[in-house]
Amino acid sequence: MPRPFQCGGIAIARVGLLHYSPKPPWTAVQLINAFESLGATVDYLIWDYVEVGIGGECSVRHRRRCMEAYPAILLRSIGRVYTPEQLAYREATLSMLEDRGVTVVNPVKASFTARNKLYSLYLLARCGLPVPETVVTENVAAALRRAREWGRIVIKPIVGSLGLGSFLADNVDMAYYIFNLLAKLNQPLYIQRYVEKRYNSDIRVFVVDGVAVAAARRLGSSWKTNVAQGARTEPLSVDGEYSELAVKAVECLGLLYAGVDIAEDSKNGYVIFEVNASPLWRGLQRATGVNPAVHIAAAVLRRLKR
Ligand SMILES: Nc1ncnc2c1ncn2[C@@H]1O[C@H](COP(=O)(O)OP(=O)(O)O)[C@@H](O)[C@H]1O
Ligand SMILES: [Mg+2]
Repeated sequence: MPRPFQCGGIAIARVGLLHYSPKPPWTAVQLINAFESLGATVDYLIWDYVEVGIGGECSVRHRRRCMEAYPAILLRSIGRVYTPEQLAYREATLSMLEDRGVTVVNPVKASFTARNKLYSLYLLARCGLPVPETVVTENVAAALRRAREWGRIVIKPIVGSLGLGSFLADNVDMAYYIFNLLAKLNQPLYIQRYVEKRYNSDIRVFVVDGVAVAAARRLGSSWKTNVAQGARTEPLSVDGEYSELAVKAVECLGLLYAGVDIAEDSKNGYVIFEVNASPLWRGLQRATGVNPAVHIAAAVLRRLKR
């Protein structure tokens, strides 16, 4: 392993798990247990205790501990971000850690890319992967032209998760109203043609280190098929074509692990909605019996050994 016993004597098999919540959420607990079962120790770190200093011996600390001493830090959440300044601070902090040789998982650039539903979709399309027809503009008239052309559209935040903040507009009046409200809030208008999803479902594929370790169908109780929005999950084989797409998508964005959302469009075949760099997996684990945390922990430790 590359950085044994540096900075305050943190042992090599000791990794940090960074989140915003003072109490480790369920997924973090799974990860902590998984690392421990492989002989590593996890320190649960929260953004509130992070402090950055320029010019000293150690740039990034968590309370009194130098975070640069961790061989790996699992970035489970960049935290609740309300202002561009907060985002700039957190991105810079993570980049500093990487610059000091810490293996941040997922890698910082890839994490921020995946978080951006516009840029990540552009990259996926450039990698030759199928994505929904998408237009983004700040111009209400241009957005309305799309709404007229496509009929049914989804309007969603460029950065968002759990299905929160997305609207389905199936007529121009509704679209007009939403576009104007968003424009007043200085929000870009992110518009997608509505995908007629087979069985009103999509497929979540969990990929770790180039392998699809679990897949589940998420059957929506509304047009949103997020588990957080009440979707049911059913296990799926990991041998489907969707798994190949998911593996390629995760590789395309440069992530070590991710949860990929894929729908089967009745007209156009598979389309990728997004690649989640900090996915939750409780529903998937319940449905499939696979605990992705074990795979993630093994992959991180493998990476450190290289
Ligand atoms: N263009 C679309 N057509 C139909 N359904 C969509 C579309 N975009 C999103 N959805 C539904 O909404 C859910 C959430 O969208 P997604 O892009 O994955 O954002 P989030 O980060 O909120 O999960 C998807 O899983 C899917 O069920
Ligand atoms: Mg999603």
